[in-house]
This record gives sequence, structure tokens and C-alpha cells, in this order.
Amino acid sequence: MLIDAPTGLGVLRALATLEQLPRFDKAGRYLPEADVVDQPRFAWRGLLIDPARHFLPVAVVKRNLDGMAAVKLNVMHWHLCDDEGFRVESKLMPRLQQVAGATGYYTQAQVREVVAYAAARGIRVVPEFDLPGHTGALVAAYPRVASNDSIKEVPVRWGLLNIAIDPTKPGTYPFLDSLLTEMSGLFPDPYFHIGGDENDGRQWRRNPRIVAFMRDNKMLKAGTADVVDKHQLQTYFNRKMLAILTARGKTMVGWDEILGPDLPQEVVIQSWRGAKGLNEAVRLGHRALLSNGYYLDLNYPAAAHYAADPLPAGTPLSAAQQLLVLGGEVAMWSEFADSVIYDSRVWPRAAAVAERLWSPQATTQDVPDMYRRLALVSTQLEGLGLQHRRAPAQLLRQMAPPGALGALSTLAAVLEPVKDYKRHFQGFKYTTQTPLTRLVDAAPAESDVARQFGTAVDSVLAGLAAPVRPPALARQLVQLRAQLLRWQANDAALQPMLLATPALSEYAPLSTRLGALATVLLERLTQLEANQPAMPVWQMTARAILDDAQLPAGQAELAVVKAARRLAGL
Ligand code: ACM
Repeated sequence: MLIDAPTGLGVLRALATLEQLPRFDKAGRYLPEADVVDQPRFAWRGLLIDPARHFLPVAVVKRNLDGMAAVKLNVMHWHLCDDEGFRVESKLMPRLQQVAGATGYYTQAQVREVVAYAAARGIRVVPEFDLPGHTGALVAAYPRVASNDSIKEVPVRWGLLNIAIDPTKPGTYPFLDSLLTEMSGLFPDPYFHIGGDENDGRQWRRNPRIVAFMRDNKMLKAGTADVVDKHQLQTYFNRKMLAILTARGKTMVGWDEILGPDLPQEVVIQSWRGAKGLNEAVRLGHRALLSNGYYLDLNYPAAAHYAADPLPAGTPLSAAQQLLVLGGEVAMWSEFADSVIYDSRVWPRAAAVAERLWSPQATTQDVPDMYRRLALVSTQLEGLGLQHRRAPAQLLRQMAPPGALGALSTLAAVLEPVKDYKRHFQGFKYTTQTPLTRLVDAAPAESDVARQFGTAVDSVLAGLAAPVRPPALARQLVQLRAQLLRWQANDAALQPMLLATPALSEYAPLSTRLGALATVLLERLTQLEANQPAMPVWQMTARAILDDAQLPAGQAELAVVKAARRLAGL
């Protein structure tokens, strides 16, 4: 075996590829003869890890770094503070750990340990200190930089709290200079992220002193004589941050909200809101990163993330502009992921984005093959110590009443958490202390069983529609019927146990609906096999059952409904 690479980093990547090469045949596992000529498409292939919402101990971070190295991701973006916590020890501002980090923080020695662990795996660590918004924890610890005195304690609720530090107080800058200087000393990477997202400026507009500052400094909306423009105040603030970081030899990175004509070009823009923001940043001469399309916390399937490309075919950017696109970052925000289930929300889906960012654009078109390989990578990651399979299984064992584990697991396997940000808005009140130990937390972000069911449904439909029925059809029909019978019987076994268990009863409707869906589809299979058309009255009932099956419960939903509609012809 020969590895030829221009750098040690290249050798590391080659070794990671080698780990994925073994094949199987009848004789067992073997390394095929292969000649791999390879290089990354993008230089910046990141994973954003958020220990701010739920603290993630060093062991969790390290095993995720192992996972990153296995799939050749090379930047850990460490989102170290937010409204709900500030996660690094400060020797200069100890209330940051004592107050803002009371629910968990990294000592400076631990930060150095993680940075060294990452470096040994060819992974850079870019810290993010989100400013001026997302600073609830910081202002609870140091009210002297707050825009008002409303925040007395570290916030414990998720959502947009619209807290921002006061960029007009002279004392804000010595404070941030000390803090960022101390923090930049912990992170050798030349890039340093100052966040900058989701500051709606309401705390500024409600403070007459801040409004007066904006008026005095002509920070006004274009064409108005007195309407203050928070974006200009944020740009003023960003320039101060840029001066501090530049003095420490750092290149500043920020989210796309900080973009504007007055932002110096050397700032790197990370677009989370859309490809439009990425392209705008590049047109204004900034280097840029894409995260839109790569938010794992939204619970979309790997295929959806795989389809998002920083430079898709038909990009409007010129060849020179394309060089400014450094790459992208997959992101896992942790409102609904604690140290127990974090891995299961990241892996294996992050591996699909890793391939997207590494491989040439055209080699990432074959989605079924991506899923075939994703399953292999998932097993490889498990071998490295990632808990993405074990932790949800363990949660199920803990929550299942005696005798119910099998049936509960069957239900959980076809559930997914509700998509997008819907989990915030379905009547259940979360705080930072709410245990993430409900069925929704054990449900996969992307159900393999549901995806395989969809594939089986499509094969059967194609077989039935073919002029000559393919030989495999009879076996596929038997398997599909067996699957539906299992789901039907599952509800009969599970329903009484769900109803008798207070912590699980919110999921009883989903079990009922899975059983009803299975019954409808069994009827449909009988019609299809007998070449009988569906009667309008059957269709009406079936449609009502499938509409019902789509409703969420306990912030989870059945992942098999779309495929069920295809099979039902509805
Ligand atoms: C973000 O999701 N607010 C960066």
C-alpha cells in the first residue's frame, strides 16, 4: 500500500478513506485493490456543535471529533455561548462560569485539551462568541454591559429572547476587549466567530439613551429624519469587534445578518438564512460559508441536506466569485439535544453533508447509493464510540413498561420529531431543565424503517404497473403485507400499555393511527392484487384515516404517511 500526499493532513485523510474501503464477499472482509486520487472540493468542511443550550461534556465533544475525522470534516465550530449559558471559564470575568456557566462550562485546561485532540485529527476549532444578541447568560452575569436591567437571571426558556448587550456604553468595549483577548488566546485558529445573528434591536429601540446615541450618530433609516436603524448600530459594534480581533491576529466570522455595505470585506460571512445571503456576501467581496440547508436540528432527511450545495450547478457566481466560497458547515443546535442524545441528532446524517463538501458536485447525485453507504458509515461511527444508535435504544429500555419494549421500539422506529422549528410551538412548555427522555427523544431524526417502507411501496407499485409483472413482485407483496400486519398487531399490544403509563400516554394516538393506517393499506393491497378499483366510499374513509395519521402527538409524527398515500393512491 502506498499513500502519497503533499502534507501530513493529506495522509490523515487518506487513512480515513482507507477505513471505508474494506468490502465483503463470501470469504469475508477484504481490502480491494484500488487507486484513489482524491482531494477536497471545499477547504472548509465544518460541524457546528452547540454546548450552550445543553452543556456537552468534553467526552461528547471528543467522540464527535472522532466522527468528524472519520468523514473528513475539518472544522469544529464551537458555539460557546448563548442566552442559556456561557461555557468557557474566564480568569478575568469569573461570573461567566459562576453565573452564566452554572449549568456547565469548560475549564481553560479542557478547552486546550479539546483543541489539541482536534488538531491531532486534522480538525481546526473555530470558537463562536455570539454578540451582541443571544447574550442572556452574559448579561445576567455582567449587567453592566446590558441594554436594560430586565435580565436578572440566566434565561431558561428557548426561543428568540431578543436580548442584546449595549453597544453605546463606553464600558462595553474594554469589557469585550478583555474577554475576546482572553478567549482568543485559547484558540490558535486564525478565525474567530462573533455570531451577530438574530438581533432584532428591540432592547436598543426601547432604551432612550441608546436611541439618542443612534440619532446623534445619524444611524437612521434611509430617507427618514429620525427613524433609528439598528443595523447601523450593529455595524458600528461589529467594527469595534473587528478592531479587537484584528489586533489579536484573528479573522472575524459572523452570521449573514451582519452583512451590509459598510462591513469590511475581510469579514467572513456564514449564511444560515439562505443561498441568497451567501451569494450577496460573495458579490460584496466577502469569503463565505453555507449553513443553510445543513441544519440537522430541523430533523430533515439526509437526502435533503445532501441536495444543498454551496455552489450548485447553475450558480450565478462567476468563477472568481466562486473562489470566495470556502465551504460549509453542518449545524446541530441543541435546544432538543442533550449530552445523551446529541450524537443521534448529528450522526449519521452529518456524514452526508461531509461527502457533499468533500466530493465533486457531480458524484453526489446518487441518493440511494448515499443511503447504502450512510448505513456503513453509521456502523463505522458506532465502532468509534459514537452513541447515535445506543443512546436512543437505551432511552427506550428506560421508558418501556415491562413487556412493552418490542412494541414500543416498533412504534418509535417509524416516528420522527416534528420538522423545522415546530417543536417550539406545540403546546409543550420546555425549559433548559426539561428532561429529554420522552418517546420523541428516542425517535430517529430520520426513520430508516419509514424510508425502507417507502422504497418497498414504490417497488410494489412499479411492479403492479408493469406490463408484465416482475418475478420479484410476489415476494415484495408478501413482505409488505407482513410489515403492515406487524404494525396493525403492534397497536393492539401496545395501546393498553401506553394508556396505563402516564409518561407515554401522549403517544397513544400515534400507535392507534399507525394501526389504522396499516389496516387501510392492507385493504388497498387486496384491491391491487385483485385488480379491483378503489370505491369512492373506501377512498373517503381511507383519506380521513391518512389525514389523521399525519397529525403529530407529543411533538412526534408518523414518518410513513407519505408512502402510505402513494400506496393508497390518495
Ligand atoms: C442561527 O441559526 N441563528 C445562526
